[in-house]
Amino acid sequence: MLGFLRELRGSGSAADQLPGNIYTEFFANIIAEPSGNGCKSADHDFTQGFSMLRTFDTENSNQLEPPTATDADVWIFGYGSLVWKADFPYIDRRRGFVWGFKRRFYQHSIDHRGIPERPGRVVTLLPGDPAQDRVYGVAYRIAASQKSAVLDHLDYREKNGYERCSLEFHEYPTDGAEPIQVIMYVATQANDSYAGDVWQVPCIARQIFSSAGPSGPNREYLFNLAAAMDQLFPGAVDEHLQELVACVRRCIAEDEPQLIRHALLHEIAGILKQEQLAEQAQQLENLLERCQKPGGREWLIHRALQAKNQS
Ligand code: SIN
Repeated sequence: MLGFLRELRGSGSAADQLPGNIYTEFFANIIAEPSGNGCKSADHDFTQGFSMLRTFDTENSNQLEPPTATDADVWIFGYGSLVWKADFPYIDRRRGFVWGFKRRFYQHSIDHRGIPERPGRVVTLLPGDPAQDRVYGVAYRIAASQKSAVLDHLDYREKNGYERCSLEFHEYPTDGAEPIQVIMYVATQANDSYAGDVWQVPCIARQIFSSAGPSGPNREYLFNLAAAMDQLFPGAVDEHLQELVACVRRCIAEDEPQLIRHALLHEIAGILKQEQLAEQAQQLENLLERCQKPGGREWLIHRALQAKNQS
């Protein structure tokens, strides 16, 4: 148990090293079961969605004869996970920005980086100043022959509240190129999972720190986005993103070891109240298994935070 504890306490814990599909399969089982809380995701067959993701493996499709550019191609703009996770075939990729928006972690995630009972946080766009606010991201050109399959796939991937809209994209660095008309997915305030700014950065950071879902830990989403932004747009300032990264890193360094320790001790104390030794052994076994599964670290953190809030 101690060795396992030490493993969990490191920020690069065992869960980080698991292949991504372990998250997918594990959480698919959990959220495919009706939650009874009225959340949209419970209605879907997630396992079907995931096999669909696999059919869009870019590596395989890129090895087929490459489609050529035509007038009927479409461009898709990604500003969140689409920046660093392009699980669809594309024939061109440009970095750039759209005017008039602010990127914010104001959307609950119940199907990728959280589950209906414990939603994570992901980005959406808010209207901003059309002459001042830019959101940086990546535009992908999708061949006409693949656009309907790719849009179907993205409609499914972004189904939890995101709507398609069309606007102009500008390449970065700006070199006088004509703007490109792009499609992007935005979660507006009208969707059930819109969280808004009711919780300020420290609370959003806590939610990210303690959530995981079928696509993996919520913190991975945040860190991947921040790393991609640094790499693609060095020097560009995104205060909201940078504050969240700093806050979540602080939670991991300062709070995580204690929270995991408390949660484990609490669970173990409960188990030791059982009179039968055989029952104790079985429950300890179950606990170990639960903690080692994808999302086990976040489950413990969440339990400790809940206990802290109640005391
Ligand atoms: C996007 O990446 O453009 C949409 C939001 C997300 O899936 O993270």
